[in-house]
Amino acid sequence: MLCQRYQLSRARRRAPDLLALIGAEALGALAYTPTPEWVEVSEPARLPDLKQLLEASERFERDPDAPMDELMRLFKAGSSPGGARPKVLVEDAKSWLAKFPSIRDTFDMVRIEAATLATARLAGIEVPEFQVVELGARSALLVKRFDVTAEGGRNHIISMKSLLAAGDYYFLGYADMADTVRIVSDRPRHDLQMLYRQAVFNALVANTDDHLKNFSMMRDRHGWHLTPAYDLMPDTANNREHVLHFGTVGNTPTLSSLNLLGRQFGIAAGAVKNIMNEVREAVEQFPRIGDEYGVPAKEIDTLVARMRLPGPG
Ligand SMILES: Nc1ncnc2c1ncn2[C@@H]1O[C@H](COP(=O)(O)OP(=O)(O)OP(=O)(O)O)[C@@H](O)[C@H]1O
Ligand SMILES: [Mg+2]
Repeated sequence: MLCQRYQLSRARRRAPDLLALIGAEALGALAYTPTPEWVEVSEPARLPDLKQLLEASERFERDPDAPMDELMRLFKAGSSPGGARPKVLVEDAKSWLAKFPSIRDTFDMVRIEAATLATARLAGIEVPEFQVVELGARSALLVKRFDVTAEGGRNHIISMKSLLAAGDYYFLGYADMADTVRIVSDRPRHDLQMLYRQAVFNALVANTDDHLKNFSMMRDRHGWHLTPAYDLMPDTANNREHVLHFGTVGNTPTLSSLNLLGRQFGIAAGAVKNIMNEVREAVEQFPRIGDEYGVPAKEIDTLVARMRLPGPG
């Protein structure tokens, strides 16, 4: 993406050149400068720019080589957060990650993600502040950035993929992330409960896109701990299998594998039962919450049918 964006020659596709282009636009607290003096390169995009930025994003998806105008430049400047879907960093009084619909979507991804975040919050999972903004016939999801502090400073973030030194193909599971949390977190008991709750949620809501870059740890003034949960979706892609295993063969969780996982996380049997019940009750509310967020009824039905609530064994 970066090479394409700046039309870099082959000779300049090296780490130092690429890092210098990222500058201060990466998420987290790392910034890169080829000189000791810091030069602020681009103005941040603002909330009122969102509609035009969405149009620029669609134009870019249709034709990545289209000529660059000012808006395209702004879209590209703010679009380095990574991940598969179109998104930009925008600011008002707060700093937001704006997730756009894609021209290739077959579901209303923005409203579905908002409804899933609301369902997760009801299930007791910490999620960032978020809102859906209407942009004419379309909408975008704004998620408050957890790498930006209230004072406008930055928190370090690191993905579980980096923490576990995983390559492109890996066979790892929720218990591997628990081991990392035990070592890294300054509040392991809290984080293990939170991660287990999210594992149960992902199983029940069929969030099969549970790859290691969708979990991160951050360092704020208290120390290192899990970030709030993000990128939560039911199985819109109809993957049927999770990326991370729950301790079972085939990456499809069952009630007994979730119970066993709770024990591997060091959570008492009674607490495991409570977490399972609370998460189940919240996930049962997904159709109502989806409706409140304006997800089309047909899409809700399709997604609920893909939530194979695990039976015993
Ligand atoms: N609220 C947030 N604050 C700071 N960084 C975030 C936040 N939410 C997500 N991120 C970072 O941005 C990246 C992309 O976000 P996200 O995973 O939501 O996008 P995506 O395109 O749907 O991803 P995927 O490729 O997994 O489908 C994440 O991997 C994470 O590093
Ligand atoms: Mg992601």
